[in-house]
Amino acid sequence: MAETHTVQSDDGTSTSKTNRSNAERPPRLRGFPLIGRTLSIARDPLEFLESAREYDDVVVYEAYGTEFALVSDPALVETILVSRADEFRKGEFETGFGELIAPSGIAFTEGERWRRQRNLLQSSFTPDRVRSAADGMVTEASALVDGWDDGETIVLRDALSAYTLRVLSRTLFDLPLEDDRTAIVRRATTALDEYASPRRLALESIVPSWLPTPAERKYENAMGDLEALVADLVETRRTKDAAGDDLLSLLARAEYPDGTRLTPTEIRDQLVTFLFAGHETTATTLTFACWLLADDSAVRSELERELEAVCGDRDPTIADLEDLEYTEAVVNEAMRLYPPITSIYREPCAETVLGNHLIPAGTTLQLPVYGIHRDDRWWSAPEAFRPERWLNGSNGGLTRDDRERPEYAYYPFGGGPRHCLGMRFAMVELQLALATLVSKIVLEQVTESLEPSLGVTLDPGSVEARVRKRENSR
Ligand code: HEM
Repeated sequence: MAETHTVQSDDGTSTSKTNRSNAERPPRLRGFPLIGRTLSIARDPLEFLESAREYDDVVVYEAYGTEFALVSDPALVETILVSRADEFRKGEFETGFGELIAPSGIAFTEGERWRRQRNLLQSSFTPDRVRSAADGMVTEASALVDGWDDGETIVLRDALSAYTLRVLSRTLFDLPLEDDRTAIVRRATTALDEYASPRRLALESIVPSWLPTPAERKYENAMGDLEALVADLVETRRTKDAAGDDLLSLLARAEYPDGTRLTPTEIRDQLVTFLFAGHETTATTLTFACWLLADDSAVRSELERELEAVCGDRDPTIADLEDLEYTEAVVNEAMRLYPPITSIYREPCAETVLGNHLIPAGTTLQLPVYGIHRDDRWWSAPEAFRPERWLNGSNGGLTRDDRERPEYAYYPFGGGPRHCLGMRFAMVELQLALATLVSKIVLEQVTESLEPSLGVTLDPGSVEARVRKRENSR
């Protein structure tokens, strides 16, 4: 049974926390002196996320100059993200990264500042706004398909990344797509992805460079242009006539309860955060889902059958989604196998106990979404692509272990108070984009096997596919 007692911290102060009297330091994975396990993790980070649990549910290791505790037990993930969320914060590993790209962006702030931002942004990003973006998601997906020729080979990730950026730009800025200003957003997004790449950050943590690198210079220039663009847009959209329904206009006009407004820099930081959080995540999920469908004709046929039954020969709409159960199952299963965010990070505010493990203050807790999604303690045949496991009742028939699976064996969008703010937007976009593509084309595999790597998000690599237009395509 959990009990509460007092723990003496390094600086001599005492704090009270939930504890077990027999708590011990978790086992430690050894690495090289000075660089810890940085090199071996940089070599195959995904394998590491899957294999570390073989040692224990909590294991400690050092990498990138940081002390990590990898937590592979879904019940402890739930404790950290949900039931004891107020005892944990994002921690330096993530806020340090936030300092580089968007210091006042909602994904990186803490405490009262975060709460104010969350309330404000949540009220700007309502179900109605997602609904109003839905038709644009289908229009853009149709335009994407129309731009492809029958028999053409495409690079899936590039095409889908352009697609999700168009959808997001509409929602965030509402700028004409071929406008020079949209090109500024595009350039900033590309520079951000390169700048924030874990490989670059790992190298920087081992060999810090005192002169700006080309990626840093490109990033600084692109962000400077974006800041100037946002300042300009905020100015005009604060006037009544130019105000639109996009997130930038809403933030430009929004007021906190005390009557204060966001500064252009704060607005820039929120928009950069949304671009960062909402662009590659949806693009890579769509890429993985398309590749998995190209690899599995039975799943594809079942999806086509559902789309024909629900939508007939018209385009899908947001109102169809409640009937598109199998479409949702395909999206869920693609995100189980290939979660775009492979780990979530937290830090205990003070020394604490998780299960029977004593965790010192300052430890970075790593919650490995990828590893837990593929853990055979919670998933039967975890490597298999089986959308049926998401269906209730007659269609799927949940297995015994499916019924007994802990809730946090699946958490692609995180959980608790800081769960993904764009979750609804992302799920609608993923389902509508997939439904539109599948009803109009068949993708044949050109790239035969996937070799995902860890970029800012889980990176599928340059996956190529051949487009076959469906004869009865709408
Ligand atoms: C498949 C798509 C997506 C996935 C898998 C995903 C995943 C996540 C995860 C795991 C977190 C929580 C991180 C943590 O607790 O540390 C998060 C936070 C966040 N996401 Fe997403 N996301 C997706 C799409 C989007 C989109 C489309 C947007 C916006 C349009 C968005 C905006 C955000 C924001 C603003 C946060 C920070 C929330 C906060 O700290 O209060 N995400 N996302």
